[in-house]
Amino acid sequence: MVEPLTYTQTTLYQEVFVMGKGTIVLAYSGGLDTSICIPLLKERYDYDRVVTVAVHVGQRDEEIDMATKKGKKFADRHYTLDLREKFVSDHIFPAIKANGSYEGYPMGTSLARPLIAQEVVKIAKKEGATAVGHGCTGKGNDQLRFDFIIRSAGLDVVAPIRELNLTREWEIGYAKDHNIPVPVKKDKPWSIDENCWSRSIEGGKLEDPAYHPPEEIYLWTVSPDKSPDTPAKVTIEFQKGVPVTLNKKKMAGYDLIQKLNLLAGKHGIGRNDMVEDRILGLKARENYEHPAATVILAAHRDLESLVLTRQELAFKRMVDDKWSELAYKGLVYEPLYAALNAFINTTQERVNGNVDLEFFKGSVRVLGRMSPNAIYSSDLVSFDSASIDQCHAIGVSQYFGLQARLVHGLTTAKKKMK
Ligand code: ARG
Repeated sequence: MVEPLTYTQTTLYQEVFVMGKGTIVLAYSGGLDTSICIPLLKERYDYDRVVTVAVHVGQRDEEIDMATKKGKKFADRHYTLDLREKFVSDHIFPAIKANGSYEGYPMGTSLARPLIAQEVVKIAKKEGATAVGHGCTGKGNDQLRFDFIIRSAGLDVVAPIRELNLTREWEIGYAKDHNIPVPVKKDKPWSIDENCWSRSIEGGKLEDPAYHPPEEIYLWTVSPDKSPDTPAKVTIEFQKGVPVTLNKKKMAGYDLIQKLNLLAGKHGIGRNDMVEDRILGLKARENYEHPAATVILAAHRDLESLVLTRQELAFKRMVDDKWSELAYKGLVYEPLYAALNAFINTTQERVNGNVDLEFFKGSVRVLGRMSPNAIYSSDLVSFDSASIDQCHAIGVSQYFGLQARLVHGLTTAKKKMK
């Protein structure tokens, strides 16, 4: 964190110097959109001070360093907050327990947005700001996720890119006029969002759903055809639904995820190329890579099948879907979200055990699973055991599907039931 002002200093500063609308706090990534927001908030919106906040949720070090340097240079005050562990424990772990996925991929961006917005709100209160700014466009999901948290805190939202209807071309020109370095290079015009759980790549030529993504968009995964010819084996241990050891080594959540990103990424695991339905209804072509998420979710689902009852599994599938919908929309203050988490946490008390996995040529396969809470009895189910009298099943069979059988052949209803 970069030397925060004390509350008294902030108040004093504002009383003495405020001419315009005072202080605004900006969620800042150092990219083109948020970079041009700094001068725009002063020139077009009449704010006196722009305070920038960059939140580290597992982006590459260069990204965070760049945001920190640019924030310090161009804003009146800058904060960089390292919230990697908090992101994992408060947002990724609940997503693992809920098998959190949207339209078939492990969601990532949507998990980080509430945390970023919450932290920016905290700084806004500390800095005596009445508004929070962000660089989201009016087309995506992030604007809604941010706005929801900011408005819930009673602060105003200022979103210059959306409100001024800006295009990328205009932004680049404006940035140049203000001596702001433009990070987008013409030959790699992707819009990237990254946290330790997921990396998303969109925009540019990828906006044509028919366009085949070039290999260069991927950083965490190798192409499955270039991956090693020998498979790798790993074991993940879960306690109460979350991973705690990797290959028997106890690891903090963030480290475990990063290690798995490397191990599984090397084997080409965790790519998605898809057309996604955004909250507004727009369809968007999205590319993702999320090796650790793919592996952990596969292992977690598998372990659940060993320890949860059929009733729990069926009901939890619906709960997981609803949880995922709320998380995708960023509606973390929706009371239902807390209620679903309470149910999910109850089920996860018994999700303890080990899952052995194999990585090979882009896929992850469960090799075996074991749990002290398994509701699996080899004695009962085995072909080789006599601990169940098979004849008892004949009684069950006489009633099994009874109503359908009656509909199917009405005459049999009158015959003696066999
Ligand atoms: N479609 C995803 C979501 O809404 C990811 C968006 C990420 N943004 C980006 N600029 N790549 O969660």
